[in-house]
Amino acid sequence: MNVLVLGSGGREHALAWKLRESQLTDRVLCAPGNAGIAQTAECVPVDLADPAAMFELAERVDAQLTVVGPEAPLVAGVVDEFERGGRKIIGPSKAAASLEGSKIFAKEFMQRHGIPTARFVVAHDHPSALRAISDFGLPVVIKADGLAAGKGVVVARSREEAEKTLDDFVNRTVLGTAGKRLVIEECLFGEELSFIVLAGTRGFVSLVPTQDHKPVFDNDRGPNTGGMGAYSEDTILSEGLREEILHRVVQPTLEGMAEEGTPYRGFLYCGIMLTSGGPKVLEYNVRLGDPETQPIMMRLRSDLVELLMASLEGQLGAVEARWSPNPSVCVVLTSKGYPGRSETGKAITGLEAAEARGGVKIFHAATASQEGQLLTAGGRVLGVTAVAEDLDSAIEKAYGAIGKIHFEGMHYRRDIGAKGVRRLKAAADFRNSDRRAENSPLSQ
Ligand code: AMP
Ligand code: GLY
Repeated sequence: MNVLVLGSGGREHALAWKLRESQLTDRVLCAPGNAGIAQTAECVPVDLADPAAMFELAERVDAQLTVVGPEAPLVAGVVDEFERGGRKIIGPSKAAASLEGSKIFAKEFMQRHGIPTARFVVAHDHPSALRAISDFGLPVVIKADGLAAGKGVVVARSREEAEKTLDDFVNRTVLGTAGKRLVIEECLFGEELSFIVLAGTRGFVSLVPTQDHKPVFDNDRGPNTGGMGAYSEDTILSEGLREEILHRVVQPTLEGMAEEGTPYRGFLYCGIMLTSGGPKVLEYNVRLGDPETQPIMMRLRSDLVELLMASLEGQLGAVEARWSPNPSVCVVLTSKGYPGRSETGKAITGLEAAEARGGVKIFHAATASQEGQLLTAGGRVLGVTAVAEDLDSAIEKAYGAIGKIHFEGMHYRRDIGAKGVRRLKAAADFRNSDRRAENSPLSQ
């Protein structure tokens, strides 16, 4: 089977790599791809904003299955185009992609279906936004309604920051039309979690849980990014919490979309805040996360093509998603300037040595090749991903590999996965103190 991946980042590299492993694939193509993806898949140019062009490409290369990485083609209606032309594709329709394409749609949908989320107000103009900010108090969260490439959400900690954000979004239209309408919402506190499912024509399967690290600097300081690293480890989520998320978020979302006549298919990413009042939805994404996909694919043992085909054929109940029990970690290496204007064109060295240790895979997010030299080509450049028998070892492996990589201005966080290590240690301390109490003469 010929399989086409649409997109060009680390997520798409991880997908192409896993698809390449499948017994069922003859050719794996990626459009437009990048220099790293070109080592695993045939890269071909395409305009990701043009559904007809993507369909024509699928026809030309006879792709029997297409997997969409980023949200923009989905919101532009690529799935509808493929379905009209009778080609198989993984992702939601344009209507269902509104769960990410419009924050107002997503919030009002959650309200209609009783799905737990932060209290919010929709603001259509500057004065109503200002009033809502005063009503919520600080910190307050301001969200542009439309797609804004990760720049549409600001957690404002001061009145000045809130007013500046309004000015940027509404008056100076720095996000174009995406910021014309806003959601103003209450700030939630707790740990964040990325919970992703693959929804089929019947049923869904959950992927292993991950935690992303959005702020650019260690200890969650600095501006938010697309994601500076992620890890996956089973105890991120207790069985009880997992059940609660399935029962209160995933099932009502899928049922609600079906009831409203826009059934959801494809990957659904629920960004969750684990608050003291239970899990609440921060956002939906209508696709896999980046960099969450990299540690998820490192743990996936099932044949990805089989899973994807089963989702299209209503057979998800009949296949099992099998996972490695071992934790995985992805640390993102970024260019100088990211998440602002980033440097590009810097020579990258050391990748072979970095990947020489088993259990390490480097996914390219933005690289280009010029006369045999690998160059940086964007803000997030590489995702160094490792899997090992425990989280500490996976982290050590990833950072060990990074030690061998160099490009000018390279930046990365040093604490990816540290939250997980702290949680595991706290759980072990708790178990030990319980055991000590059981063995103590006082309890006998
Ligand atoms: P979103 O694109 O809606 O996920 O927002 C990006 C990031 O902003 C999230 O991953 C959170 O870190 C943060 N965020 C969004 N909504 C809230 C909220 N209501 N309270 C606190 N943080 C939030
Ligand atoms: N890493 C967050 C996202 O993919 O939206």
